[in-house]
Amino acid sequence: MQIVVLGSAAGGGFPQWNCHCRMCQSVRNGTSRAQPRTQSSIAVSDDGENWVIINASPDIRQQINASPQLAKASGARGSGVRAVIVTDAQIDHTTGLLILREGLPLDLYCTKEVADELSTSYPILSMMKHWEGGYRTTTVDPASPEGWQIPSVPSLRFVPIVLDSNAPPFSPYRDRPRPGDNIGLQIVDTRTGASLFYAPGLASPAPAVLRAMDNADCVMMDGTLWTDDEMIREGLGTSLGSEMGHLSVSGDDGMLALLANFSKPRKVLIHINNTNPILDPDSPEYHAVLAAGVEVAFDGMEIHI
Ligand code: MLT
Ligand code: MN
Ligand code: ZN
Repeated sequence: MQIVVLGSAAGGGFPQWNCHCRMCQSVRNGTSRAQPRTQSSIAVSDDGENWVIINASPDIRQQINASPQLAKASGARGSGVRAVIVTDAQIDHTTGLLILREGLPLDLYCTKEVADELSTSYPILSMMKHWEGGYRTTTVDPASPEGWQIPSVPSLRFVPIVLDSNAPPFSPYRDRPRPGDNIGLQIVDTRTGASLFYAPGLASPAPAVLRAMDNADCVMMDGTLWTDDEMIREGLGTSLGSEMGHLSVSGDDGMLALLANFSKPRKVLIHINNTNPILDPDSPEYHAVLAAGVEVAFDGMEIHI
């Protein structure tokens, strides 16, 4: 299985257009060695030619143009993008569905809860029907242990894992999310048994998450914030990370402590907010992540398992 990180930042990207936090300033002014990052998305393939995009970010046009792997096509128009999965209805994970309009129709996989949000609160799927019929949406059962397969990547099996996180700010289920509002994905290569676990938004790990992490050859985990009150301390917001559905990286109960329980997988932090000091490769926080045997995802990162 081949994995490409299309975008490693959280919503807003890095730098965020209107943000003057320490990290955004430093990347804008070139006063740190931090690299810019686009918003949250990965792509997976079983043959390097046919790709499934997981989470369609507002930056998807730029991300696909920056990824020659995804450009292969036979006709006058086309691409290697065969299908899209969205793991929640958040703006940073779904707005790319608008940008992909030139390539419609396309197959889309998400839970019923997310498909409903994308037809009501944020009705992208209804709008996109006007482009060649729009998305051919298959709803997936977040409780299904077998998951589903996608014909264009026949060797991969996608198994949803319910994540404890939050529903989007525009959702009637904000602060009272349903099990289908956020899923992680266990992606298994049926030829080799190798598996990836991808969870860009995770507030706390349920037993099913721990099992998926334990089985995985690679985990890509929520690296949004270094500390829970980072946004508040920086004067950038009023919400804790935990209220937004994100477990912070540091702390006794943080993501690094959680990852320390697993020895098998390659460990990668993804969905990194622009305030997070791990974006600066010269920061003590970045060095603490490396010392824990954990990597920080960057745009264009390729992983083969
Ligand atoms: C989140 O995961 O909480 C989002 O990145 C929020 C956003 O897109 O603004
Ligand atoms: Mn997000
Ligand atoms: Zn910032």
